[in-house]
Amino acid sequence: MTDSWANSAAAPPSAFGADLHLELNGPGLRAGLTEALREAVRTGRLVPGTRLPSSRTLAADLGIARNTVADSYAELVAEGWLTAQQGSGTRVAKRAEPRRAAPAAPRTRPPQPRPTYGLMPGSPDLAEFPRTQWLKAARRALTAAPHDAFGYGDALGRVELRTALADYLARARGVHAEPERIVISSGFHHGLMLMAQALKARRAGAVAIESYGLGFYRDLLTSAGLRTPPLYVDEHGARTDDLARLRGVGAVLMTPAHQYPTGVPLNPDRRTAVVDWARATGGLILEDDYDGEFRYDRQPAGALQGLDPERVVYFGTTSKSLAPGLRLAWMVLPEELVSDIVAAKGAVEVSSTLEQLTLAEFIASGAYDRHVRSMRLRYRRRRDQLIAALAQKAPGIRVTGMAAGLQVVLELPPGTEHSVVQAAAWQGLAVSGIAEFRYEVADSGWRLPERDALVVNYAAPPDSAWAGALDALCRVMP
Ligand SMILES: Cc1ncc(COP(=O)(O)O)c(C=O)c1O
Repeated sequence: MTDSWANSAAAPPSAFGADLHLELNGPGLRAGLTEALREAVRTGRLVPGTRLPSSRTLAADLGIARNTVADSYAELVAEGWLTAQQGSGTRVAKRAEPRRAAPAAPRTRPPQPRPTYGLMPGSPDLAEFPRTQWLKAARRALTAAPHDAFGYGDALGRVELRTALADYLARARGVHAEPERIVISSGFHHGLMLMAQALKARRAGAVAIESYGLGFYRDLLTSAGLRTPPLYVDEHGARTDDLARLRGVGAVLMTPAHQYPTGVPLNPDRRTAVVDWARATGGLILEDDYDGEFRYDRQPAGALQGLDPERVVYFGTTSKSLAPGLRLAWMVLPEELVSDIVAAKGAVEVSSTLEQLTLAEFIASGAYDRHVRSMRLRYRRRRDQLIAALAQKAPGIRVTGMAAGLQVVLELPPGTEHSVVQAAAWQGLAVSGIAEFRYEVADSGWRLPERDALVVNYAAPPDSAWAGALDALCRVMP
């Protein structure tokens, strides 16, 4: 290798230019550098068009004389590996093709067409992420951030965010929240993982879950060693009375505001019943309020947590209201659970404190409310358009679930779900059948009725794709 710059006549490393890792193994400095660059281009590590550091910068980084680099660049330009142009520096030549991988083996099956329209439940309209407002909040947050914001962070999460959330959740969702009992997590998924660990540490054997829901939350709980007996879901939500009959249940995971994915609210009697169960047994209610902000026909019901903050763990997330890519969510905990969750989380914060500060600023400045209100109008319009289009083009299809959230359930004639999902795929439309979300076990004493339906996310497509998606959807309806 080369001498360090400290021992050579070369300039010290410069703060300018891009990093370029090179192993100089050739017989001399110049030959070694030329061969290392040639090899980097040949193998595709430096792709065509890449701008190389200036000879001054690379010389300083490698601790060699600038002329050595300039000569090496000139040689590679002459050989056609690099191009040099006044004003645009030295670049990897466009025609210097990287070595290609061996051709793939021929396919044995025709490929499924790539979906053109994604109506699978999960995502909000990502094209509507409030980039400008978020940037402004990030700038303000960064300007105001104390130096300790760049450190490892508090295991609870930044206090600025917890304070902003406590105000917002009390005001918008009726949650009893103090900053000291809020813990920030990297998405609901992470929060549930922490909860599962805390429940295991308390020797809970089982977490009851709704008989319609997401399989990966069930898997998360079972891989933490918890049993997951199902709670029957009907048109009034989960049958919470049944909890009394289940053995060893330390907690119940529910979506009371808007059952996922069937779209029904938890009936008021059942809300009371589940809180009574928790009080009587010392059990916990894990309230997943994943889309509580989005109700279109009236004020949303307040969070269940408001009924008993010591028995309900409230989970909220930015995944529907802003974007799942943020991976920012929160738990509002009964006081006695805070230390258990912090212990499960470990001493170091896992989500970026700068993102947390940005979200805190975004909420405190009112931008979060404004964004939610504008998305509410937008999603409501989409839902209305969907219902109107179906009424006109597929009048036999019944839409169920309340006017809320990002998806609807379309009830299909018996026995048609699978073929409709397939037909949709061939129309370039990705949709989910409700069967994907169904969960029952043989020894529960009941069976869910047969049901054929689609769960359709009307929120996700960008405006440019919405009309086409709606057309394609109506076309595949039986
Ligand atoms: C039922 C339900 N809960 C919670 C979430 C949010 O999960 P996360 O915050 O991990 O993105 C989702 C997102 O798809 C969901 O469908």
